[in-house]
Amino acid sequence: MPSSAAAPQRVRNRFREKARAFDDLYEDQRPLARLLRPGLFRRRQLAADTVRAYDAPRVLDVGCGSGRIGEFALEAGASRYVGIDFSEPMIELASARLERFGLRAELIAGDFLDVAVDGPFDVVLALGLFDYLPEPHLFSRRMFELCADGGCLVGSFPGWSLIKGPIRKLRYEWIGNCPIFNYTPRELELMFGASGFERVQIASPGGSGFLLRAYRAQRRSQ
Ligand SMILES: C[S@@+](CC[C@H](N)C(=O)[O-])C[C@H]1O[C@@H](n2cnc3c(N)ncnc32)[C@H](O)[C@@H]1O
Repeated sequence: MPSSAAAPQRVRNRFREKARAFDDLYEDQRPLARLLRPGLFRRRQLAADTVRAYDAPRVLDVGCGSGRIGEFALEAGASRYVGIDFSEPMIELASARLERFGLRAELIAGDFLDVAVDGPFDVVLALGLFDYLPEPHLFSRRMFELCADGGCLVGSFPGWSLIKGPIRKLRYEWIGNCPIFNYTPRELELMFGASGFERVQIASPGGSGFLLRAYRAQRRSQ
């Protein structure tokens, strides 16, 4: 049975225990593994492409994990990168991975809703994060507040699929004791629109999830 511990605490426990195993997914070169996890690489590619579309952008990575996407964002030209994660083992892995970027990379261990963050940022990344959030609107609102005028949020979201949906529920919630949530394109448009984002673009690149880019309007000079 799932425990009654608060949802964020259960998510945190999972990513404390599974930091290394999650990080290893990026190294798995087996064709079947790659086939089963196309989303991991597509979202990283979208993050790097978005960073490249700006001139030396400031990048915030919420739920940065082991720094696999941070590495790409910095290589793609981020002038400043801030990664936040509440799993300390993830932050340790990220810290080792991003050391070579020196002061351009900063890591914060803590809950995104609680930690102080010195913004704004041109690109806000939320990849593989919303899967685990019982109150996602609080996150989208804070991301909007930290996003610069003309800035862009890049997110990935799981959708319900008849085959993968029940398997994920079983694996994460019942076996792994970790809550997991799904989204529809309409829910995403409403949530990010209500948070203040102007243009919300959603793509479904196959599989059972969505990639989203949402833009904060460029403020007009008076
Ligand atoms: C599936 S991992 C994705 C890591 C990374 N973004 C990637 O795609 O490689 C999700 C990460 O979000 C973190 N996380 C979840 N909720 C969080 C919160 N409220 N504040 C900070 N980090 C959080 C977890 O600890 C975990 O490392």
